[in-house]
Amino acid sequence: MLAAITSATLRDDDFQQDPTTLNLESWIAELTGKEAGLVVVSGTMGNQISIRTHLQGPPHSVVADHRAHIFTHEAGGVASLCGAMTIPVEPSNGNYLTLEDLQQKTITKFGHVTDCPAKLISLEVPLGGVIMPLSECQRISDWAREHSIIMHLDGARLWEAVAAGAGSLKDYCACFDSINLCFSKGLGAPIGSLIVGTRTFRERARWIRKSIGGGLRQSGVICGPARVAVEDTFLGGKLRESHVRAREIARIWESYGGKLTYPVETNMVWLDLGSAGTSLGEFIKKGEAVGIALMGARLVVHYQICAEAVRRLETLIQSLLAKKEDSQGL
Ligand SMILES: Cc1ncc(COP(=O)(O)O)c(C=O)c1O
Repeated sequence: MLAAITSATLRDDDFQQDPTTLNLESWIAELTGKEAGLVVVSGTMGNQISIRTHLQGPPHSVVADHRAHIFTHEAGGVASLCGAMTIPVEPSNGNYLTLEDLQQKTITKFGHVTDCPAKLISLEVPLGGVIMPLSECQRISDWAREHSIIMHLDGARLWEAVAAGAGSLKDYCACFDSINLCFSKGLGAPIGSLIVGTRTFRERARWIRKSIGGGLRQSGVICGPARVAVEDTFLGGKLRESHVRAREIARIWESYGGKLTYPVETNMVWLDLGSAGTSLGEFIKKGEAVGIALMGARLVVHYQICAEAVRRLETLIQSLLAKKEDSQGL
């Protein structure tokens, strides 16, 4: 990636002159089966520009899982940038939304002057590491299109679902009008995301991107390592290694009697700390003692997490769950 940064072209992307950037955009568009791509600096920017690009003016609502990143971690952008009402939906199966969950909450028509109809459904795959099956995406997409509802995918981590064998990039992306894909996170690039859709979508998205200060100049330094991330980490098969590590961590946790909040399907492990009789504070503090920096009960594994880190984690898990067994007099 460092070599790709030093050899990147340094033309101006605001004027669409930079070959490293233009090549990455058209290559990712091709990989996802879409007409065009646009580089943005972050996953948040990718989602927000996509949603703003699609939505023309209120009244309109955006429907998504109640835990979706666009609702919970994007500083209220859907409201402030689009003036949209947000409709958070809880998945009845606890893991991922189904068509039936969405149908119950989505207002499809201007039935009454008091209604705020849904213009866009945003899905997230995977969400918290859990994969919405391709067949469910297809059902939702078919129904949304029948009702002229735009489909956006927060696919910041879609690479993980594809690496886990849930479906191809093209098949997932075919369900959506726009998709946001990140090169940082599991893929390991230092910065950058890309949104894909039609050529018309890209043109308007460029304009929205510019309006929020996201127009880039020498973006080749972002796109060079991003390409390595896709070629080497994703196509090179490294994501699967992190899934194996994640399953190993889950197995260790369960072998000491711990419970998981969500199934481990990709690179995330959600520990139910309550089941271990411990608090987040204690977990973080004990982690520090064995040299592991923790932020919460969600462990995100990337391909550079080594066997030694897992061994230390096991020491930590053992000390937490042994304490529980002692207190139960086992
Ligand atoms: C699913 C999802 N969408 C969007 C984002 C936002 O990406 P960024 O932190 O680059 O803004 C993240 C970040 O972790 C994410 O996990």
